[in-house]
Order: sequence, then structure tokens, then C-alpha cells
Amino acid sequence: MILVTGGAGFIGANFVLDWLRAGDEPVLNLDALTYAGNLENLAALRDDSRHVFVQGDICDRALIDRLLAAQRPRAIVHFAAESHVDRSIHGPAAFVRTNVEGTFTLLEAARAYWSALDGAEKADFRFLHVSTDEVYGSLAPDDPPFAETKAYEPNSPYSASKAASDHLVRAWYHTYGLPVLTTNCSNNYGPYQFPEKLIPLMIANALAGKPLPVYGDGRNVRDWLYVGDHCAAIREVLAHGRLGETYNVGGWNEMPNLEIVHTVCALLDELRPDPAGPHARLITYVADRPGHDRRYAIDARKIERELGWRPAETFETGIRKTVAWYLANQDWVAHVQSGAYREWVVRNYGER
Ligand code: NAD
Ligand code: TYD
Repeated sequence: MILVTGGAGFIGANFVLDWLRAGDEPVLNLDALTYAGNLENLAALRDDSRHVFVQGDICDRALIDRLLAAQRPRAIVHFAAESHVDRSIHGPAAFVRTNVEGTFTLLEAARAYWSALDGAEKADFRFLHVSTDEVYGSLAPDDPPFAETKAYEPNSPYSASKAASDHLVRAWYHTYGLPVLTTNCSNNYGPYQFPEKLIPLMIANALAGKPLPVYGDGRNVRDWLYVGDHCAAIREVLAHGRLGETYNVGGWNEMPNLEIVHTVCALLDELRPDPAGPHARLITYVADRPGHDRRYAIDARKIERELGWRPAETFETGIRKTVAWYLANQDWVAHVQSGAYREWVVRNYGER
């Protein structure tokens, strides 16, 4: 079996669902169920014995030791993290704890477990660390996209904590020989994304007739990748990636935020027209995010050259699927918009 951390979150849940659709190898899913973790994402696996869920914290060394000893996974795929830049600005401590201390704890537990393995079990073990392109910092309009050799220049508490975790993973390979792989991915979108991130927030607000808050001038650029493509890339790196290497994963799809919001509005106009007028009328410019990175772009040629991976979805096909999913899953959205989520909205947008 494989151990997945953070498998009740957005990308982790998509990964677990795709993994068990593609094969029969069981998944041990360790997730603390923070505000971002949601077992409803895994409802399709409720009666599936190939999925074992454990609620727990990646900072809990004793728990991880027990799980590794009892379940003997052949790999760890590490998604668990605090993942939202805006939350990291309001409360960085949780980011240092989970992303840095948690990754450290997991690495140490993995090292002890792996060191005691022999033969093929030891040779085949993998620790795959899922990270972000945000560790590379911000690009000027004409800079080349991020290659794996780009110096780290993180600018937010989130990206700094992820950068620190990447460095730990790298060091555990060079110092202890732990068989690690790292992926640095661009902005994901797709089903089950918590509606605090740009695309699901815009869909949810547009459907509710609420303002669509665009930070600053709306010209910040991100590369967007459909989550199913990201999951396929991780499976490929896990199966065939070279030990100790980093693979950048991107969608070849750079777009300014405003264009993303207009695309979402146009799709909603088509699929769920609002008698009050086009959804784009709700676009509202709000105060910028402090330290807001201007542009991210990914050079994903290494993973294509070495592993033959390229995204299958274009932005047009991926965003259409995503909007359709949110329209068909309004209950899911209503359930995650709990009291705690409403408090966050007041905190983040109230003073903008
Ligand atoms: P998410 O916030 O939706 O999910 C994170 C999951 O981790 C949640 O289920 C949460 O309960 C769990 N978790 C948090 N703290 C934990 C702890 N201490 N112990 C155990 N579980 C804990 O995040 P996501 O968007 O699914 O991102 C997954 C990973 O991918 C993260 O490492 C993130 O940095 C990385 N990433 C995300 C994106 C993106 O666009 N979302 C892009 C690149 C990389
Ligand atoms: P986000 O989804 O938070 O991802 P990240 O900061 O990790 O890239 O934001 C994507 C972009 O959208 C980013 O440039 C900030 C911007 N944004 C808004 O303009 N308004 C919003 O309400 C949110 C959440 C984000």
C-alpha cells in the first residue's frame, strides 16, 4: 500500500480517488481534517476496503511510527500542508508548524522505517514530496519560466514554509540517502477545491450574486493546471522519477487573474444565466494582497523529456469541467461554507 498525507484535502482527495480508479493498491490516508480537510470528498470510498482513513497529525511522530510499522507502505506521498497564502499572512504559525515541523517529523519517521527495510523493499521505497512553484518567487513579464534550477526566492509565509520543507527533503536525500522525489506544481483547479481559492471562490460568489473580489489590478499572472493532470504527473514521478530529483509540473497555461474571472463569468452566463445580467457585473477591485507575487510560470520540459508527462486538459476543457462540477455539487459547497469559513471571509475581505 501507499501512505498519503493530506488525502482529504483538494489535491490529495483527487489523487486518492484517481489512484483507486486506476488500480487496486490500497491507500492509507493520514489527514488531520483541518478546515481544509473534508471526508465528503472521499464519500465515493465509504465502503471501499482499499481506502483506510486515519485522522491524525503529521507532527505526531508516535502515530506515524505506529502506522508505518503496522501497514508497511512501499511509498509516502506527502500532500498535507497549510496551503492558502492569504491565511498564511493572517496566521503564519500554523504554516511553520505543519509545513516545516510536520515535514521534518514525517522525514524522520520515514528514515527510521526505511533504514530497517532490506533488499527489494528498501530499494523500492519512495518518499514523494508535493510542493509548489511559489517557492521560486515572482517573475518579471519577460523572465523565462521557472526551471528546476531556479534559485528559491519565497515571498509569503506560505511559500517560505514550503521552501523550508523542500530544503529538508533535499537534505534527507543527500545526507541520509532517503529515496525522495519532489514535485513543484503551479496553481491547480478542479473539483473539491475549497472556495477560498480564486476559481471556486469566484464561482460560489457569482452564483450567490455576491461581489467577485479581484486583488489589485487583476493583472497578476499564474500558470493553471487541472488537478487530474497534476495527479497523473505525481503517479508518473512516483513510478519513474529519478531519486533526489525535482520535477516542475505546469499546465503551459499562463493567464492574468482578470482573464480567469472573465472566463468563469462567461461560462456561468452560458450554463446558469442570471436574470439580473452578466456575472461580470459583479467584478469588484479590492486592496491588493501584501507581498503579492506578480507572475508565476512553469517550464515543464524536464518532466516531459524524462517521463513523457504533459497535461491532457487545456484551460478551456478543464475550466468547463470545473464549473460544471461546482454547478452539480452545490450541496458540497454549502456544507464547506461553515461558520468557520464565514468568519474567514469577514477577516480577509472585511477590511479590503
Ligand atoms: P488543501 O489545503 O486543500 O489540503 C491540505 C490537507 O492537509 C487537508 O486535508 C488538511 O486537513 C491536511 N492537513 C493540514 N495540516 C495537517 C497536519 N498537520 N497533519 C495532517 N494533515 C494535515 O491543500 P491542497 O490544495 O490539496 O494542496 C496539497 C499540497 O499541494 C500542499 O502541500 C500544497 O502546498 C501543494 N500545492 C498546492 C497547489 C494548489 O494550487 N492547490 C499548487 C501547488 C502545490
Ligand atoms: P489563490 O487561489 O489564493 O492562489 P495563489 O495565491 O496560491 O496563487 O490566488 C490566485 C490569484 O488570485 C492570486 O494572484 C491572488 C488572486 N486572488 C484574487 O484576486 N481574489 C481573491 O479573492 C483570491 C482568493 C485570490
